[in-house]
Amino acid sequence: MIEFRKVDFSIGEQRILTDVSFKVERKQTRVILGPSGSGKSTILRLLMGLWLPDSGSIFVNGEDITDADPERLREIRRSMGMVFQHGALFDSMTVGENVGYTLLEDKHDEEEVERIVIRTLELVGLDPAVRDRMPDELSGGMQRRVAIARALAARDPEILLYDEPTTGLDPQSAERITDLIVTLRDQMGKTSIMVTHDIADAFKVGDRITVLDRGMVKFEGTSAELNASRDPFIEEFLAPFRKGVAAALQRQDLDRSAPPRYQPPGPSRPQRGGAL
Ligand SMILES: Nc1ncnc2c1ncn2[C@@H]1O[C@H](COP(=O)(O)OP(=O)(O)OP(=O)(O)O)[C@@H](O)[C@H]1O
Ligand SMILES: [Mg+2]
Repeated sequence: MIEFRKVDFSIGEQRILTDVSFKVERKQTRVILGPSGSGKSTILRLLMGLWLPDSGSIFVNGEDITDADPERLREIRRSMGMVFQHGALFDSMTVGENVGYTLLEDKHDEEEVERIVIRTLELVGLDPAVRDRMPDELSGGMQRRVAIARALAARDPEILLYDEPTTGLDPQSAERITDLIVTLRDQMGKTSIMVTHDIADAFKVGDRITVLDRGMVKFEGTSAELNASRDPFIEEFLAPFRKGVAAALQRQDLDRSAPPRYQPPGPSRPQRGGAL
């Protein structure tokens, strides 16, 4: 469905990606994991055809988009829904206008747009009443849902691209967003790429994971394979996450082995016939 084949990309003199290859099968989620600046968002920009690689090919549904003319590229871009890093909603538009924006651009009639907006807000777990609010009146997690709704509403795209969809959210909101991404894949059959630096998100969502380091692929495989990797870079990258998990497990053990708390004796059984 999507394939990067030996992609090199530079900006000016600076090499950003080197020999990047991976595939995303239909109805699967590929996670691109890596530290800040490793080139994750760049991969999405190339896939959207916003930038052109120096060499290599990028296939979407069997078509090499690096050969496409600008008009065709626009069409391909429209077949993909993009959830930008930090949500990137339009501050001066209501939630409903944000979600319906591209639909109105396509000149759907207003009632139809309204119907699609309501349906999509419901789909991402928001009360449709939020459509009259401004984005800054919503919590960070709700804003991220609106961003996903906007990507979905656009043209009911087969492919969804998420750039750091959980960054900056509290753990519960982040969990709800990753649940939503999994639901969109498993129940609606979306093919997706999720960019993240969060290892827990990667393990939860990724059918297959690509780890980038300074624009190069350091690992490709399943989460189980990633967990078992003995590559020094991977071990170092996973170390803080593993320490966190180990500490949490240890805390649970301590809780379990703690001496039972003092329980004050309960009230004595009421006497038959009353206390008199
Ligand atoms: N418009 C640009 N002009 C020049 N250099 C850029 C531009 N965009 C990205 N870069 C450089 O490309 C490299 C990769 O950037 P990219 O945004 O893909 O990283 P990232 O992995 O998404 O990082 P983060 O996790 O911080 O979002 C960085 O070194 C960055 O400085
Ligand atoms: Mg980025």
